[in-house]
Amino acid sequence: MLILGIDTSCDDTAASIVEDGAKTISNIVSNQDDIHKKYGGIVPELASRRHLEMIWVVVDEAMNKARVGFEDISAIAVCHGPGLIGSLLVGVCFAKSLSYVNNMPLIAVNHLEGHIFSIFLESSRPEFPFLALVVSGGHTSIYRVDGFGMYIEKGRTRDDAAGEAFDKVAKLLGFRYPGGPVIDKIASDGDPEAISFPRAFLPGSFDFSFSGLKTAVLNHTKKYPDSKKEDIAASFQAAVIEVLLKKIIEVAKSEGIKRIVLSGGVSANSVLRKSIKQRAIDENIKVYLPSLHLCTDNAAMIASAGFYCFKGGKTTNFALNPKAYLPLGSTHG
Ligand code: KG4
Ligand code: ZN
Repeated sequence: MLILGIDTSCDDTAASIVEDGAKTISNIVSNQDDIHKKYGGIVPELASRRHLEMIWVVVDEAMNKARVGFEDISAIAVCHGPGLIGSLLVGVCFAKSLSYVNNMPLIAVNHLEGHIFSIFLESSRPEFPFLALVVSGGHTSIYRVDGFGMYIEKGRTRDDAAGEAFDKVAKLLGFRYPGGPVIDKIASDGDPEAISFPRAFLPGSFDFSFSGLKTAVLNHTKKYPDSKKEDIAASFQAAVIEVLLKKIIEVAKSEGIKRIVLSGGVSANSVLRKSIKQRAIDENIKVYLPSLHLCTDNAAMIASAGFYCFKGGKTTNFALNPKAYLPLGSTHG
């Protein structure tokens, strides 16, 4: 069964054809980095305008690359939140129109659910239950996943998302958006122990907080303007990773679960990937890492999650509206 997935939740226009929720036939992502990089972050109005220009092009390319027509597709899965409302509107309206014109079922997918299910596009998949650490530009949460549509949030960030902290620190150091990949790159030439940045461990909870760390980096750059950027990047990155690892391992122990899935843009971070693999070996836990192109926003993950929705009989109608705020669990209870 082929599903067309569409995601326009933030600054990537993405479309994909996925077979049976597992096999990626095509996966097209048009990013907007060139538009936003000079502003140091995403400008929502520019993002939605670009989605409007690109949505047909990207869907067309996904269909052509997969060599399929609408008659070959069983359903359309679209991300309806959380995200930027103007961006989401483009994908949702487009998907509704395609569904109407082609008389095809429409499926609403939560973006975070998509990130979690990106691992189901890989050959090595976790059994339920597992824990998912979703670390992206907009979210940092730990979910216990007991089955499709069965999510319990065990912890979340109380302020900035980890990716947001990467982007803001990169901006502070004079780099353009998106900052995560730049920090990752220059940190490899820095000393992670050069500066002792604070770690917010928030005892007694599985929540995160990254805003104090961001302020500490700002204060450091003011106090020591000649400090090496590589050292700042490496020390900041080490602080984020230490907290992420500590929390996910704590939840794994408290829930007695030995399977961890990492997902979202920050899970592309080279040191985080290496460190979690090592930690998992030490703790006798199995860790599942999606390929790099499935960590950041894409529509294959939406098509994959959409397949499981469809199998469970969860389709939606044309009353579907995008939602900027959409906690995971509210779509599938
Ligand atoms: O999942 P994603 O593509 O979009 C959201 O749903 O937010 O994540 C984007 C975030 C950005 O903050 C970006 O800087 C970060 O992921 N990111 C990284 C890396 N690659 C992307 N952060 C750290 N290291 C990376 N290699
Ligand atoms: Zn995302």
